[in-house]
Amino acid sequence: FRSASVSVIVLGASGDLAKKKTLPALYGLFLRGLLPAEAAVVGYARSDLSRADFHDRISPNLEKVDGSSDDSLAVFLGQCHYVSGQYDSSEDFAALHDELIRLEDEAGASESGEAHRLFYLALPPKVFASVSATFEPVAMSQRGWNRVVVEKPFGRDLASSNELVAALAETFTEDQQFRIDHYLGKEAALNMVVFRFANLTFQPLWNRNYISTVEITFKEPFGTEGRGGYFDEIGIVRDVMQNHLLQLLALTAMERPISLSAEDVRDEKVKVLRCIEPLTLDDILIGQYVANEETGKPGYTDDDGVPDDSRCATFATAAFNIRNERWDGVPFIIRCGKALNERKANIRIQLRDTPGQLFGDAARNELVFRIQPSEAIYLKVMAKKPGLGDELVQTELDLTYHSRFPCETIPDAYERLLYDVLRGDRSHFVRADELEAAWRIFDDVLHKLDDGAVEPLPYVYGSRGPDAADDFVAARGYVRSGDY
Ligand code: BG6
Repeated sequence: FRSASVSVIVLGASGDLAKKKTLPALYGLFLRGLLPAEAAVVGYARSDLSRADFHDRISPNLEKVDGSSDDSLAVFLGQCHYVSGQYDSSEDFAALHDELIRLEDEAGASESGEAHRLFYLALPPKVFASVSATFEPVAMSQRGWNRVVVEKPFGRDLASSNELVAALAETFTEDQQFRIDHYLGKEAALNMVVFRFANLTFQPLWNRNYISTVEITFKEPFGTEGRGGYFDEIGIVRDVMQNHLLQLLALTAMERPISLSAEDVRDEKVKVLRCIEPLTLDDILIGQYVANEETGKPGYTDDDGVPDDSRCATFATAAFNIRNERWDGVPFIIRCGKALNERKANIRIQLRDTPGQLFGDAARNELVFRIQPSEAIYLKVMAKKPGLGDELVQTELDLTYHSRFPCETIPDAYERLLYDVLRGDRSHFVRADELEAAWRIFDDVLHKLDDGAVEPLPYVYGSRGPDAADDFVAARGYVRSGDY
């Protein structure tokens, strides 16, 4: 795509997602020299803004991007345009098309005959289908590819997700659609496939004979803070477990793909997701944060728009069983929550006890992928404590990215994924059958939780979550160690 003209059209350009994620990611690509100088970034939204107003609105978030300078920002803004229009108006989208033709021709498309368009739908999913059906007939490039990026939530259960997929399929082919799950673009998550399949070391151990439990953790140190009205409709299971964390699980558990082609990789993910038994209420524990008297942090129901009697989960721990030859009986535990004690996302693969225990109760080996903050892969091992004594100590073989790869800046997940869309690489995007397999696991339990079948356990804002969650995890065989 680098030699041809490309336009990135951000629909919903004045919204939060565009301002905080999409546009800074495009700027990040520009700073790395990966967004061609001929590329136009065209914001589209209802607000009647001048181009200068648009630049003023997006600049504060762009200035924060690593490596930004006044000069580079000025050049990038020179590539950023704005068109205002309604989302239900064919005429407005036709005017967008005319503006795109003008920009593409200016960038040399009339000579090369090539012009590609990437439409980023930074819009609420409920309007995806209708907006797409309005712009598709009038605003697509006739001189190159057209690709469409959409963001979760894709529906709120299996049926509504299938409906959304079917509605979009009336307008776009599966190949034109890129369903983003930004956890698939995180550097340490991308390393899972490399680490597993480019090294022999762990391959013989990667199964139920040697692995006792796998735990995937996601913690955020802030609550819903004003987004409560929105969050109450969703809950933590739909917000991060059914998508981001289940994707991490699939990467950890899938079989070796036949090749690295997008279809082969996604075939394996679908296969392993289909082996997961649907969750029941016994497999999940939910919590909801309450005010912290000491720090003055509010409880979930103190947030505007959250009903006082809400049973919405802001914390959940669930145990999954993968019924296949490799994993049957190994609990895969996902634990996630808002308003906890720290920001952390990691995958912990805990091995079984060493047979025979020559050294008494040596701690188990554990391989940890730290997704954030500070990306790392480390293996917790036992070693002899140096000195004249015979004591053992638990220590780590450590691949912390910032010390091992000091010169590399780690791209933001959105940057990586937008680069993939521009290159046409679908490997790290969610295919329709994958989405269906993921919803199938949660459908029944989510309906029961929506009906208020379970009262969430309270936990204090800033704590580790409900105490019962530790018991839940311990009961499934996970042994806590130092930095857990
Ligand atoms: C989003 C969720 O998808 O992911 C948010 O809707 C959550 O609630 C966010 O905060 C977490 O992403 P990251 O990249 O900050 O870990």
